[in-house]
This record gives sequence, C-alpha cells and structure tokens, in this order.
Amino acid sequence: MSDRIERSASRIFIVDDTKKHREELRGVLARPFNVVTIEDNETAIRELRRAPPDLVITMETMQTGGTGCLYDTRNDTKLRNIPFIVLGAGDGEPFTSMDDRDGGAVTFIKTPTSKNTIITAMSGLLSHAVENDWEELPELQKSTLQQTVKEFQSLSDAIEKGEPLDVQAAEESCVPLVEAVNSHEYDGILDGVKGHHNYTYVHSLRIATFLSIFGHTIGMRGDDLQTLASGGLLHDVGKMATPQDILNKNGKLDDREWPVMQGHVEQSRIILDRTPGISAGVRIIALQHHEKIDGSGYPLGLKDNELNELARMSMIVDIFGALTDERSYKPAFPPEKAFAILEDLDNKLDQGLVKVFRGVLEDSGAPLSLSD
Ligand SMILES: [Fe+2]
Ligand SMILES: [Fe+2]
Repeated sequence: MSDRIERSASRIFIVDDTKKHREELRGVLARPFNVVTIEDNETAIRELRRAPPDLVITMETMQTGGTGCLYDTRNDTKLRNIPFIVLGAGDGEPFTSMDDRDGGAVTFIKTPTSKNTIITAMSGLLSHAVENDWEELPELQKSTLQQTVKEFQSLSDAIEKGEPLDVQAAEESCVPLVEAVNSHEYDGILDGVKGHHNYTYVHSLRIATFLSIFGHTIGMRGDDLQTLASGGLLHDVGKMATPQDILNKNGKLDDREWPVMQGHVEQSRIILDRTPGISAGVRIIALQHHEKIDGSGYPLGLKDNELNELARMSMIVDIFGALTDERSYKPAFPPEKAFAILEDLDNKLDQGLVKVFRGVLEDSGAPLSLSD
C-alpha cells in the first residue's frame, strides 16, 4: 500500500468497553477507514494525545466512565476540535451539536441504529470543514452544493428504508446547478467537492455537472438540461445499496466482488422501478451508463443504435468522472490522461461525442480533475 493511500484513509477511534460492539463497528467501518479499537477511556486519552485521530466513536453506555474521553478532550486545546459520535445517546433522529465554545462537533445517535446512519454521520463530520467553506461561494454554487448534499442524505435514507425516492425533491435540488451551468458559474462547485468524504456524492455531483455543461454547450436547454442534471445526480443510486466494503475496497475487486459492484445498475433499476415519476431520460442515464457501443458493456450488452445520445453521453462522462475522481486506491488522473483513455476506448464509445466533450470541457476552463 502506498503512502498516499495510507494518508487518504481517515483515522477513526472506536472507544467501547464491550468487545462485541467494537467488533461490530469495526466490521462496518474497516475498509474505507483506518480504524483503531480501544476498550477504556484511559487508553483512549493516552492514544488521543499520542496520535490524534480524525474522529472518535464512543458509546454512552460504557461502564468504565461513560463518555469520559469526550469530556477530557474538551478541556485540552490540542484535542478539543476532534469530532465525536456518541452512540446510544438521544431519543430521536441523529442530532449534531456544533457549539464552538465546546470544541468540535458531536453527533448523538440513538441505538440500535444502522450502518448507513453511522457512515452518513461520519461523512458529515469528516466533511464539516469542506462544507463550511461552501458558505463563502457565490449564491448559485453554494445552493447547488448545500441542496444536493442534503438531497443525497434523503436519497440514502429512502433507499435504506426500501422506500421510493422523492423525485420532485431530487429535481428541485438540481435547479441551482442548471442555473449555474446556464450562467457558466460552476468552478466553485467542482472545486467545492474536493476533500468531501462521501465519495458517491462527490462522483455523482461531478457527473451531474459535467453532463449539464456538455448538454448546455451542444444546445440543450430547459427540461433536457434538468434531466441531465438530475440523471447525473441519480445515475449511481444503486451504489447506496452496494456493500461499503466492496464500494471502497483498496485494490482490485476479486471474482466474487466484481459482479456485486456491477450489480449497482440492477440495484438502481429496482430503486427506480419503485419510484413513481422518474423520467425516461433519467432512467436511461442510470441504467445504460455502463453499456458500450460495441456491445461489451453491462448489464444488457446493448449496442450501436440501441444506445441513444443520452446513453452515449452518460457513458463518456461517467468514465471521465471516475478517472478524474480521487479514490483511496487511485489518484485523480489529470484531464489530458483521462481524455487519452477515452480516445483509446475507440469503438466502445461514440468518438464523435468524445471529441465534442473534450472540446467543451477544455474550453470551459473549469477544474476538471480532483488533482487540479
Ligand atoms: Fe455506475
Ligand atoms: Fe458513476
């Protein structure tokens, strides 16, 4: 494993005196995070001082001094800003306290809870500094980021509960994005997601932005542009139902894992099938962005004129977005390298559209890679 990968995984302490709880939590968090489990507050404080983590998760019900390590950190100037999640506290929805006088944010979550709730809370706390910087952005770009990240949370909650998505809310969250693209104000959006910890959100918002810029430049307007933006945001919804350990694996997927990863498209189909009001265009983007013109894609192996312009655009943009994203297992490629890979894919992609896409993005002057 390279240094780069070691550095990019957030370091998380789990402080809990019940071994079963520690191991359950570690199982949920192991892959995308560098997890250290600790069974008592004394050791926790010692380790916190020795090598401070990015976040601590602890249980309110600990027999050995309750959440003592939380209160000890609040009196220590070097440690007071470390965010905490306290499990077993509160009696309703997760609640975050961000009172500056008390130091870093603390999220209280009632138990029993779900893996999704914990991961969402972690990603929110770890991304707090990034999201705070959005306040400084011009209105449209700020609203795009704030509304879409909030919407992503609602989508993820609905998926976990097996409920239909609220299509209207998803579309509304993309209205500022469409306006930002119409007025060529999107650099702050593409820059603003850098360092955010919800990878599927970062990827989906970048795809929504690139697709909208692409569509706008080739003359799409109104509802068509709205479809590109919402379709981009929703294109990988099935990943919210894909196991985190496969989604965030630090390395090549094996023969068992790869079909599960590819299964995110089928998961998207199931989710969209139970969602009334999904437009045909959004369905095409979600269900056909992994197809290829020569029939070598998945899940259906569609080819040639079975794939319309929307499908062809989304497969190009999705690959470009994935190549220029930063993941724990790979750096973000610079745009020239990503464009060269798209051109090498030759008859798998519509090369006429690849050429247009390259021209559009290069002319936009936007930050095209998370490495920029
Ligand atoms: Fe996908
Ligand atoms: Fe994707």
